Amino acid sequence: MKALIELAKRRGYFFQSSGAYGGVAGFYTYGPQGAALKANVEEQWRDRFTVQEGHTEIDAPTIMPEAVFEASGHLEGFDDMLVECAACGESHRADHLIEDETTIEEAESLPIPEVESLVREHDIVCPSCGEPLADQPVENFNLMFQTSIGPGSSNPGYLRPETAQGIFVDFPRLKEYARGNLPFGVTQIGRAYRNEISPRNAVVRSREFTQAELELFIDPEEDEPDLTAVADVETALYSADMQADEDGTPVTMTLGEAVEEGIVAEPWIAYYLGITKQWYERMGLDMDRFRFRQHLPGELAHYSSDCWDAEADVSAAGAEPEWIELAGFSYRSDYDLSKHAEHSGERFSVFKEYDEAKTVERATVDPDMSTLGPEFGDRAGEVADALQELVERDRAAFEGNEVTVEVDGESITVDIETTGYSVDEVTESGRHITPHVVEPSFGVDRAVYAVLVHAYEEDEVDDEERTVLRLSPEVAPTSVGVFPLMDKDGLGDRARDLAEHLREAGFSVTYDDSGGIGRRYRRQDEIGTPFGVTVDYETLEDETVTLRDRDSTAQVRVPIDTLAEELAAVRDG
Ligand code: GAP
Repeated sequence: MKALIELAKRRGYFFQSSGAYGGVAGFYTYGPQGAALKANVEEQWRDRFTVQEGHTEIDAPTIMPEAVFEASGHLEGFDDMLVECAACGESHRADHLIEDETTIEEAESLPIPEVESLVREHDIVCPSCGEPLADQPVENFNLMFQTSIGPGSSNPGYLRPETAQGIFVDFPRLKEYARGNLPFGVTQIGRAYRNEISPRNAVVRSREFTQAELELFIDPEEDEPDLTAVADVETALYSADMQADEDGTPVTMTLGEAVEEGIVAEPWIAYYLGITKQWYERMGLDMDRFRFRQHLPGELAHYSSDCWDAEADVSAAGAEPEWIELAGFSYRSDYDLSKHAEHSGERFSVFKEYDEAKTVERATVDPDMSTLGPEFGDRAGEVADALQELVERDRAAFEGNEVTVEVDGESITVDIETTGYSVDEVTESGRHITPHVVEPSFGVDRAVYAVLVHAYEEDEVDDEERTVLRLSPEVAPTSVGVFPLMDKDGLGDRARDLAEHLREAGFSVTYDDSGGIGRRYRRQDEIGTPFGVTVDYETLEDETVTLRDRDSTAQVRVPIDTLAEELAAVRDG
């Protein structure tokens, strides 16, 4: 959407940052209109996904210590495939270069040698200089930005690649605020950073962007969503099976049917797909260019057992569809909390009380260290720990004469008698569980971009071409343009007073008296301002103004007295 990117720059939606120094790829500044639109989208998200869901929001730092990302797996596995051109030195994402030979989703999950051979077989050339890339190695490149915390380099930190980790690491505190009651949800809207190899499509793939994430903590055995609110929501779904089938296409069905037929297997994900579709529709997205697509098995992130993406087609009118991911809905199981528990030694579980105390059998070990000692030398402690872990996990392993445990990759067999294995009846008032996490994760910048693309239209008014952004009044950065017919005979003062009055009534108002009235209307059409109010000579006589509707360009006469009320009725739906 070249035309939209130009409009965004011209009208103050967004533009490349640090332009005075040549700009740097992947960093964008939202101008006055863009910052207001983005803030409106964030506010609408907050209202739907935090307030209406009854969750709480936090605001965590964007820099976190290395230990967090060691535990989360990002240090080890948050990589993209990079190929560097030997001729011009430019780096490119190897999986993107082979997207014509396979789908981009499949390419992401291919092992490096296969990507290298596809680059070779298809004579892929460097997109920057046109030289062949066949002999260049493909390497993993970690996407996190590293920094040093404090002077010196002894304390490395990283800019968070997802806001989610700020919620997971503080779970021990957050569960206290929720008084340990599952399910509970914590949200966060904030910056995330990824050192993307090939930033592209302006704010769609940038290096600093905003996420709005919800982490829902559930007891997987007991907590089920109430699907009645979303059962009738109809949407386009493109499951992994449909994608695997060569002739497979998305289907449109209600989410109730999708759950019944096992197309969306995880009820919590179905719940979020439903409220998300309604939310994007409200933001003004064209639902004929919107779908949910399930990740292919090889495409799943390291923490995810099932994931669906919300996707929008952001191509220009008449062009081939161009689907981009707007948001991901992931079942993260207990992966994150268990990893942070393991690495930090803190308790990341919650204690769930039973309605009534239960008598249960508990198996324990109490190894005789004097027996274990001589036989296993200084590894006796490790053997004892392994026995302890095994009895909690698999009591049946102790039912013979001997039991085998793994210590440092070596199998060690111990006589049951020396383990002190016993089974006793105990009374339990509850149990410790590590909650599972269901995560709807939204890209705010991509929501803003899709809203703009779907609002963009070129039409004809009074035999003249015009560009209009048909933004929903709920998110439009400027609600009303106020124009005096001309700035003389008291019309300008009356219009300025009216603008002030509308601002006090809570509208975002722009006042404009420069140029012909037709040009002023066009300027606001391009910005997406839903209403235009013109003060003319009649106003001075009867206190009425002309109210113009951006989309139909229809004009009606409205008394100033009731203007704010009428505008609010349309804006608030
Ligand atoms: N916590 C899960 C997570 O971060 P993700 O799919 O990697 O999942 C979530 O990111 C959303 O963040 C994406 O759906 C997308 O909208 C947005 N996003 C990811 N990378 C981005 C980038 N480089 N630029 C802009 N938005 C991005």
